[in-house]
Amino acid sequence: MTNAIIDSIVSRSTTKYYDPEVALSDEQIRELVRIGTTAPTSFHLQNWRFIAVRTPEAKARLFPIAWHQPAIIEAAVTFIVCGQLADSSVIPERLAPLVEAGIMPAKMVPEWEIPARDLYMAYPQRQRDEAVRTGTFGAAAMIYAARALGLGSTPMIGFDAEAVAREFALAKDEVPVMLLSIGAALPKNWPQKPRRPVADVLQFA
Ligand SMILES: Cc1cc2nc3c(=O)[nH]c(=O)nc-3n(C[C@H](O)[C@H](O)[C@H](O)COP(=O)(O)O)c2cc1C
Repeated sequence: MTNAIIDSIVSRSTTKYYDPEVALSDEQIRELVRIGTTAPTSFHLQNWRFIAVRTPEAKARLFPIAWHQPAIIEAAVTFIVCGQLADSSVIPERLAPLVEAGIMPAKMVPEWEIPARDLYMAYPQRQRDEAVRTGTFGAAAMIYAARALGLGSTPMIGFDAEAVAREFALAKDEVPVMLLSIGAALPKNWPQKPRRPVADVLQFA
């Protein structure tokens, strides 16, 4: 099976060393986030926000609260990928553009809002789980888009979540799901790591 999209998925590896001379324009950063936001979200909640840390000043604020990981300084940009706690009350607003575009009949909106309310609103853990799933899907799309554009990426959990939330003024309902550095990878990065065999991770049912 060969195809450009699959190639970009299977050839990706995490970047450790970036060329600090290579910047991304705000337009390129916007495009990466636009691609990220095409990822699926539960009930089309789109419960995410991306903070693009790309100036030397902002990088210097993030670096000490992200385990001093060099990628924060050296990569062109590090996104603070935020997931927002699932909240069914935003669903009418999030679905309005679908209704306006004639994709979804208006009478169907409560058919999404009510089950979402029942699923999430009395269950804080589910709200948070959904925030993490949403942020992860968005980040994954950006990781593979970066690869397809010839850029390296580093998903990172090595940071102080409370400090990041404070320093970058995350809202109370926002979870810093991961940091995601993107930039020009240097050739000295490790090759791709071998994987566990499919037979060990796949169960047919
Ligand atoms: C959720 C998550 C958190 C990670 N956190 C870090 C991190 O803080 N620093 C880092 O250098 N790599 C981090 N990584 C990269 C992993 O170490 C890497 O994905 C793994 O070793 C597999 O290597 P590969 O991505 O090159 O295939 C993280 C990856 C994921 C998915």
